[in-house]
Amino acid sequence: MKRLFLSACALLALASPASASDDPLAPTGRWSANTDGNAPTPPMGWNSWNAFNSDVDEVKVLASAEALVDKGLARLGYRYVNIDDGWWLKRRQPDGRMLIRTSHFPSAKTGRNPSFRPLTDRLHAMGLKAGIYSDIGRNSCGQIYTPDFKNQPEGSVAEREVGLYGHVDKDIRLYFAEWNFDYIKVDACGIRGLPEDAPRVRSGLYRTLNPLVDMASLGGSDVAGVRKLYEEVGAALKTRAAGRDYVFSLCLWGAGDVRTWGKDVGNLSRTSDDIQPVWARMLTNLDTVTHRALYAHPGSWNDPDMLFVGTGDFDQAHLVEARSHFTLWAMLNAPLIIGYDLRKLTPELLAIFGNADLVALNQDPAGNQAVLAYDSDDVQTFVKTLASGDKAVALFNRSAVPMKVVLTAEQLKMLADADIRLRDLWSKQERSFRKELPLELAPHETLVFRASGTRRLPNGLYLSEQPGAVNPAEDGIPMPQADPTIHHSVTPWTSTRGPGDHPQYGGWGGAEPDRAPYGLPLRIAGTAFDTGIGVLANSRLEVRNTGFSTFTAMVGVNDTGRRQQGAVTFEVWGDGKLLTRSPAKAFGDPAEPLRANIVGIRIVELVTRDSTGKTAPQPASWADAAFTR
Ligand code: GLA
Repeated sequence: MKRLFLSACALLALASPASASDDPLAPTGRWSANTDGNAPTPPMGWNSWNAFNSDVDEVKVLASAEALVDKGLARLGYRYVNIDDGWWLKRRQPDGRMLIRTSHFPSAKTGRNPSFRPLTDRLHAMGLKAGIYSDIGRNSCGQIYTPDFKNQPEGSVAEREVGLYGHVDKDIRLYFAEWNFDYIKVDACGIRGLPEDAPRVRSGLYRTLNPLVDMASLGGSDVAGVRKLYEEVGAALKTRAAGRDYVFSLCLWGAGDVRTWGKDVGNLSRTSDDIQPVWARMLTNLDTVTHRALYAHPGSWNDPDMLFVGTGDFDQAHLVEARSHFTLWAMLNAPLIIGYDLRKLTPELLAIFGNADLVALNQDPAGNQAVLAYDSDDVQTFVKTLASGDKAVALFNRSAVPMKVVLTAEQLKMLADADIRLRDLWSKQERSFRKELPLELAPHETLVFRASGTRRLPNGLYLSEQPGAVNPAEDGIPMPQADPTIHHSVTPWTSTRGPGDHPQYGGWGGAEPDRAPYGLPLRIAGTAFDTGIGVLANSRLEVRNTGFSTFTAMVGVNDTGRRQQGAVTFEVWGDGKLLTRSPAKAFGDPAEPLRANIVGIRIVELVTRDSTGKTAPQPASWADAAFTR
């Protein structure tokens, strides 16, 4: 078996961090996921799009804002009131200032320069925050894709260029420094839908902008180019919203390989195309985040799109489905952005949005997205580790028939021979069990409990229990592929025309808690592990250490690898210094214990290197990886 021997010189080189440009695996001693802006927990609030499409106006926005306050939702944390597509009138020429559709937002009639300041002042006075919408290209989604869109921008070609392209600094200054917004969602249709031969370019409506993202082809996307554009917005926000809280929401629907870099640039990043008020579509959007727990952290959340509770398959007549949708979004640390006309709020719907126990799971300060403990096409069990050390667990019936299910102590990483207390967060009933608990789920039902018991690792945390503190700075994926496990639903925009809609890049092949990449089991040389981090080799994970003293793991090539492929070395770094490393581990070698003293270290980095290079890296398992005191 080929082994990796390092010369003394190479070892010396390993002992001090190389520059990141030489080697993406070189430890940096820092946390590279985004922490700019203000999203220590997932943002909560309301957005006009799912309720009103582009037919948005001040009366509707204020009515929903008032409902947030009057119904006690603002007190629970729903504080962002976000205006989506449809607010703009035109970009004035020649100075390029954005004009508001004052017929719909009368308080913005402030003389020659209409301003949203009266509206944002009013929202701020109500104790709320205000959000606005733009596009990273020259034109918006409504302009490019929707034929019967209300409130289209008006005027000449230049006047209808309402997106940020070429105007980033000026617009961000206007929206944040002058109009005092606190949140911006930046869509991306303008860099997607205006090639030379687009009908609306040919007809002279819009200028061509060579597409930077191709929804159906990563090869056809300019990943560096699109990232640069979003980084420019991030930089403008840092300057123009300096000293203020702000939230930067990326809306690239999983295209342009945003799965890898969105977490480094924005506070939230959309993982899928638009949600619809349809059960199957909710499944699709859910599936784009379930394998991505390690890619969400305080300051950088996965966004499976806004809530559709209240509408269609999640309306008053479908409260089981509505509760499931809400529970899953809460557990998975999705932004809780209500997309409902709150003037129509019923007590039953209010009881969903206002379930303080579920909101508390979503807003738990540890910021750990729930991890898939059990997975199937029919039932899924998600477990979320809370800051207190308690767990939340949700058992979700995806199917339309009743299901008998079992929850086990192992899935909670709790001892089986001690009592585990459960509190049902919908019925508020309490119960306890040992070892395992049989349960029944109605069609589409989700049971959700807060669980406390004797933790298997009482003096520490497995790394898979703290995904919010683990950042796959390099996840080793040589060529991202669309995730084939994401539910393929019939989309309303194409129905069953054409070959079917293919989701973009969810978490396929990425780093996973308690699983090997591709959602496969963690197993080294025949020994199964139910705990650990699975990743492809040639990867670097950054882990925040919050006062632990020892790192331990059992490392090796996962049994889902290949005998013919290369050997993998596992290195543990602390604040940029090498702490320990394994010998080269080949496929079939037994798991190797690794241990490192991490007293006083802030960032631990876990680096794997595959001797065969980058094309087909082995799956490399950090089994049982844990921080203990
Ligand atoms: C895109 C986004 C939606 C919404 C619309 C507005 O489709 O994904 O969330 O903002 O644009 O046109």
